[in-house]
Amino acid sequence: MPHPEPSPLPRFAILGSGRGSNAVALMAEFRRGALPAELAVVVANVKGAAILEHASRAGYATALIESAGRSRLAHEELCLMCLREHHVEHLLLAGYMRILSPEFIAGWPGVILNIHPALLPDFRGRDAVAQQWQAGVRVAGATVHFVDAGVDTGPPLLCGSIAVRGDEGEAGLAERIRSEVEHVIYPRAVRLLLERLARGGPLHGQDRSSP
Ligand code: GRF
Repeated sequence: MPHPEPSPLPRFAILGSGRGSNAVALMAEFRRGALPAELAVVVANVKGAAILEHASRAGYATALIESAGRSRLAHEELCLMCLREHHVEHLLLAGYMRILSPEFIAGWPGVILNIHPALLPDFRGRDAVAQQWQAGVRVAGATVHFVDAGVDTGPPLLCGSIAVRGDEGEAGLAERIRSEVEHVIYPRAVRLLLERLARGGPLHGQDRSSP
């Protein structure tokens, strides 16, 4: 089936690998028209990832492009084909458990954002919540950042924080970071990005959110 002509609004894709709770929060904002942009497609690299189910239930186009059994290059080429087919300009990584190759990042013409469950530049990489819990931080949070070739090293766009109670446990802290911070700041960060894109000025520079 031919895809509709792209609208003049900026076109986004969400890329994820699992639960998809950030995608749900973002889709709700796209759907209620709070983001002057189109969500063109939701892409997952893992078969059975709940994010795809959430997206198709919400009425969005979905694509499963499995990374298992494929080289990074072959997988990224398939992703590129899909993203071009949907006229996607900007990417929102939301629990996407793949490191994009430097070539993909350098060649992608639009913005790529990611959300990380810590106040960057602290606690980069995997198990960021466990790292924070074990470190006994009093304040935890999440950061939406531009993606560069490093792991969680790109310039931050927006972060938000919560006070750690101390009785929530590691899993409870992870849940609080997701529901109290991530689901609030990711849509805000996309709005901020859209404002900056519309202004045509510099895209980078960090804001602090107060969820
Ligand atoms: C989030 O905590 C995000 O910060 C990290 O992966 C998790 C994804 O959760 N990058 P979900 O799939 O959006 O529920």
